[in-house]
Amino acid sequence: MHNKIVKLGLIGLGSRGRGLTRNLVHIDGIEIVALCDINPAFFDELSEFFDKSQIQKPDFYTDYNEFLARSDIEGVVIATNWITHIPLAIAAMKAGKYVGVEVGGAASIDECWQLVRVSEETKIPCMLLENCCYGKYELMVFNMIKKGLFGEVVHCECGYGHDLRGLAGRKNNRLYNNMHRNGDLYPTHGVGPIAKMLNINRGNRFVSITSMASKAVGLKDWIKKHKDTDYELVNFDFVKGDVVQSLIKCAHGETVLVTHNVTLPRPYSRFNVVHGTNGIYMEDKKGIFIDGKTEDEKWDCIDDYFDEYGHPLWKEFEASGVKGGHGGMDPLTLKAFADSVRNKTQTPIDVYDTATWMAITVLSEQSIYTGSSPIAFPDFTNGKWIDREESVKSIYSLDDVYPKDS
Ligand SMILES: NC(=O)c1ccc[n+]([C@@H]2O[C@H](COP(=O)([O-])OP(=O)(O)OC[C@H]3O[C@@H](n4cnc5c(N)ncnc54)[C@H](O)[C@@H]3O)[C@@H](O)[C@H]2O)c1
Repeated sequence: MHNKIVKLGLIGLGSRGRGLTRNLVHIDGIEIVALCDINPAFFDELSEFFDKSQIQKPDFYTDYNEFLARSDIEGVVIATNWITHIPLAIAAMKAGKYVGVEVGGAASIDECWQLVRVSEETKIPCMLLENCCYGKYELMVFNMIKKGLFGEVVHCECGYGHDLRGLAGRKNNRLYNNMHRNGDLYPTHGVGPIAKMLNINRGNRFVSITSMASKAVGLKDWIKKHKDTDYELVNFDFVKGDVVQSLIKCAHGETVLVTHNVTLPRPYSRFNVVHGTNGIYMEDKKGIFIDGKTEDEKWDCIDDYFDEYGHPLWKEFEASGVKGGHGGMDPLTLKAFADSVRNKTQTPIDVYDTATWMAITVLSEQSIYTGSSPIAFPDFTNGKWIDREESVKSIYSLDDVYPKDS
């Protein structure tokens, strides 16, 4: 039990925001004092939820300026649609609140710089709530890299493979982006964990990106199969290619292949691959091969490595009974954010990570629109990446578990 309750508010009460609210109230040491959405449609449902759960009900707002003017809110979770993430995060930091912002890509490089500048000026942290950084396998592979199991890492792959063709039937921000933008619209589920594994912005950085998009026919095909002939998008030519791939080069020579693939039929995958001088991990095979350990030309099952290499944080979480959204990733992410707010410390995913990962959407568009030319990555740390600590003191710093001189 924490002796200091941290007071949080949440903006954006769509399906994600309501799910996060339900997760947050069950995490020890958090009180939700205010909720905000321009559309009050879900205020009654949430109000009932708090009543039924016998938890102190928050106040509801339709104007985020009034919400942010409350002095008791210490941290704000933003779960609105993509193009509002950065403007709202900036407003919240200016109001002195820690920011935890949901995932999505940026709309411009300029807004990424604004995010960084405001965080630096206000000294308020901004954490992308990239829950996949807290995935069981992502954390385990991170741990394996730090313990040297893969030797020197040479190449990684990651991305987002999810059959979301149904989006063609729902008028919302995600659909509009697929209609009008050709790039990796959702890079951070894949890139976040890999960036942590490669110490991006902490001794290493992304230096350039080259992207290519396939033709765009998946959504048109889905509409033809599922909608009436008078559906307004029946003849619409979507701009975003069905498969967008980006190859990122790192300062220390590693390459990272990032795939965005959401408009063709397929099972879910984050395409994770880590390949080093001692071996390889491949998510889609649930497989790992370690030179000299695994039988030649075979894959070991990654689960057989959990006892030895499972991340201490996940082991502790499993021992206490995994619960909460997305197989447990969501509560771990929210808890990490709330702990930083409570302790007034840096967030484990900081503003430089947030800007770098979100920028991939814009940089991939720039590359695609210039015939896959390489685009230089902005250095949002302004040179600080060279000698920043390998990892801020956080779940990603394993110093407590494996002290440096061991
Ligand atoms: N991390 C994950 O696994 C995960 C999963 C699902 C969604 N998401 C992210 O969560 C976010 C929300 O997704 P969703 O499906 O709930 O979207 P949604 O469109 O259903 O909900 C967004 C809500 O934000 C509100 N809103 C927009 N602008 C606002 C403003 N200025 N002030 C107050 N409220 C505002 C809208 O009225 C709407 O209710 C997206 O960024 C999405 O990418 C993340």
